[in-house]
Amino acid sequence: MAAGKGTRLKSKHPKVLHEVGGKPLVAHVIAAALKVVPPSDIYVIVGHEAGRVQQAVAQTGVNFIVQEPQLGTGHAVMCARESLKHYEHVVVLSGDAPLITSETIARLRDFHLHQKSAMTLVSAQLNDPTGYGRVIRKNSGPEVQAIVEEKSCTPAQRKLREINSGIYAFSVKALFAHVEQLKTDNPHAEYYLTDMAALLRRARHPVAALETENAFEILGSNTRAELAQLDRQIRSNKCLQLMSAGVTIFYPETCVIDADVEVGADSIIEPFVQLLGRTRIGSDCRIRSYSVIHDSEIGDQVTIRPACVLDDARVQKGAELGPYSRLRPGSEVGEGAHVGNFVEMKKTRLGKKSKANHLTYLGDAEIGEGVNIGAGTITCNYDGIHKHRTIIEDRVFVGSDSTLVAPLKLGRGAYIAAASCITEDVPEEALALGRARQIVKEGWVKKRSVASKDSA
Ligand code: UD1
Ligand code: CA
Repeated sequence: MAAGKGTRLKSKHPKVLHEVGGKPLVAHVIAAALKVVPPSDIYVIVGHEAGRVQQAVAQTGVNFIVQEPQLGTGHAVMCARESLKHYEHVVVLSGDAPLITSETIARLRDFHLHQKSAMTLVSAQLNDPTGYGRVIRKNSGPEVQAIVEEKSCTPAQRKLREINSGIYAFSVKALFAHVEQLKTDNPHAEYYLTDMAALLRRARHPVAALETENAFEILGSNTRAELAQLDRQIRSNKCLQLMSAGVTIFYPETCVIDADVEVGADSIIEPFVQLLGRTRIGSDCRIRSYSVIHDSEIGDQVTIRPACVLDDARVQKGAELGPYSRLRPGSEVGEGAHVGNFVEMKKTRLGKKSKANHLTYLGDAEIGEGVNIGAGTITCNYDGIHKHRTIIEDRVFVGSDSTLVAPLKLGRGAYIAAASCITEDVPEEALALGRARQIVKEGWVKKRSVASKDSA
């Protein structure tokens, strides 16, 4: 179920597209379901901003059912009647409960089939059950009588700590034989799927509850505070998982690491590092504080000093970056190469053992091995209309403060004198100077002061 608006988030975006652990809520739920059944057996009920939700998860190959208008969780399931008619049983998941695991889904399925229930709900004991529906059992035995939403609870029911997770298994036949009997006589005037428990009991169908071992698994995200709590839980799990695989993380509670990130053993991650998206980091690396690395591939033994920003970049073994390096998409730093303070790269390859250590912009450039890029070098890659490439071959030495106007090729082993503006190709092993000759006027200061006294 992913059709709701999420009123309590006070957002213009649909609830299930809010992110925790770097991914939309609904994407987590689909990922868990995909470990249990193929995408062809998954139906995502969309409604509010259906197009956006569909687009966000379309690549998973799941099916979609449109619920329009959205009249509650019971109504959401009514909309699935046609799609489910060839199935015997169905598991219903909440698009806003992202911590659910495939193990729990499989356990729910097995328990439900074993108990031969018409409806099985996943329940949990929460210290603070506020906001959840309460599970009412007959004489506190195993038999479920009803689920009562918090707003409709009596004071005694409100004290119950066993809550409904919003995750269920149903016999498809029993579900659709009774779902049309749901009413909207409740404070929200909605069709509540939770009312199916009492309906099925009245029709003498067995209703069971499976209590989770990990209560945090079923936490929902109705408010921004709950979103933050879920996000923290996912990040913390990720750090624990990396640490158990041999990664050192100092102050893990300050690091933001997305679920799909990989890090090799004996790498060290300092406080306040963010590793995002599909980032992969090798072994024996050190990622220093305040670096933000997105969708990038980092080899073994790489040092990333504080405050580097990498996006869609590749860094080979033994390279050193930062502090304050910025690698934009398409940057490639070769083995053992150095990229230093305030250096920006874009669509640029820097070869093995080459260095660009200070205050430099390298855009659309192909740079060979053993090249030295002096401080303040700029590739002028843009003429206002087109981007042009700069080719710098192996062992070129570019003096500081050089301006390289592309398109341009600097031949192997060439030298560029400091402060040159280079507009034409430089052949191999040549020295190019592109600056005005210095003029020295001996005694100029004294002459000027005499002249100014005369005029006074
Ligand atoms: C629901 C349960 C509550 C349970 C809680 C667990 C009901 C009536 N209540 O409450 O017992 O403790 O989940 O988290 O079901 N949705 C639709 N179509 C709709 C309405 C909702 O697809 O018309 C989707 C929402 O997008 C969401 C899910 O169903 O993903 C649950 O809806 P929500 O409004 O969050 O239910 P809760 O109030 O949390
Ligand atoms: Ca909810």
